[in-house]
Amino acid sequence: MRAVVFSRYGDESVLELTDRPAPVPADGEVLVDVRAAGVNPVDWKHREGAVRGDRPFPLGMGWDVAGVVRETVPGGPAVGEAVYGMLPLPYGGAYQELCVLPASAVAPKPARLSYAEAAAVPLAALTAWQALEAAGAAAGLRVLVHAGAGGVGHFAVQFAQNLGAHVTATASARNLDFLRGLGVHEPVDRATADLAAAEPFDVVLDTVGGPVQHAAWSLLRPGGALITLPEPVDEAHRLPGVTARRVVVTPDGGALRRIGALVDSGAVHVEVQSVLPLGEAARAHRTSREGGVRGKLVLAL
Ligand SMILES: NC(=O)c1ccc[n+]([C@@H]2O[C@H](COP(=O)([O-])OP(=O)(O)OC[C@H]3O[C@@H](n4cnc5c(N)ncnc54)[C@H](OP(=O)(O)O)[C@@H]3O)[C@@H](O)[C@H]2O)c1
Repeated sequence: MRAVVFSRYGDESVLELTDRPAPVPADGEVLVDVRAAGVNPVDWKHREGAVRGDRPFPLGMGWDVAGVVRETVPGGPAVGEAVYGMLPLPYGGAYQELCVLPASAVAPKPARLSYAEAAAVPLAALTAWQALEAAGAAAGLRVLVHAGAGGVGHFAVQFAQNLGAHVTATASARNLDFLRGLGVHEPVDRATADLAAAEPFDVVLDTVGGPVQHAAWSLLRPGGALITLPEPVDEAHRLPGVTARRVVVTPDGGALRRIGALVDSGAVHVEVQSVLPLGEAARAHRTSREGGVRGKLVLAL
């Protein structure tokens, strides 16, 4: 099968489109004919060696898939069923024609979505879902989502809005109308915003890290919750009275079913900036690393 793999950590040039033996499903795993694979920042972080396991090279790439079930397990999806899902971290294996993942990590592909759109969903949407859950986001609460136009951000703002929260989101000026279209109550230009002057938030989702995480503490009301995604909580900036924790996404087929229902009902829009062929994985990584993607990048097989 065609697969994108890498045999040392490094820049995009280490990615190789090559021929590899098909993976063999272990207990509890399904084998999926991959039609599309989503691209996430963790993909190039893995390629650069910032996310590592201890398996030997060559290593597979990517965590998001949409495709058709070829082999299954009792109680799993039917052979021939269209599914989408997320592989468990830290080993990728989505940028390839066949992939294995736990049956519990897949859900039926939302009928409204193409395979490419479906592959854009799992990791980013599960992250947003699990982050809002960890924060206790609920109706009436004030939620701030940083980088609201990004992969995680555009799902987070829609899930929060769906819960009935009051949603503020940051983005660059070119993305403010996009945020309005997603139902964000207060889209804020990250270059000029003075968030410190805003009414305090109950929840802040930090999708950026560094100074954005440091500034987040003082934007929260006492008892509020800060959820960080790119980095652990920097204890040096902790303020009393605020709960803070990092969420690391985990596969969850049950949550993907609920997310799929929201998508199929029209309540959640999936934004795909571009779909590239598998052979252009390096270009996709470069674009993702530059940091300006609206929604998601996807590789089509
Ligand atoms: N812990 C976990 O389990 C987990 C899971 C998923 C993602 N993450 C991490 O969370 C981060 C976001 O992931 P993602 O998939 O949403 O990334 P992404 O899709 O690449 O985010 C792109 C967005 O970030 C915004 N942006 C770029 N630089 C920025 C800056 N300096 N300040 C504010 N916004 C900026 C851009 O919007 P504008 O141009 O409009 O500002 C762009 O739309 C990544 O570091 C990723 O590795 C962690």
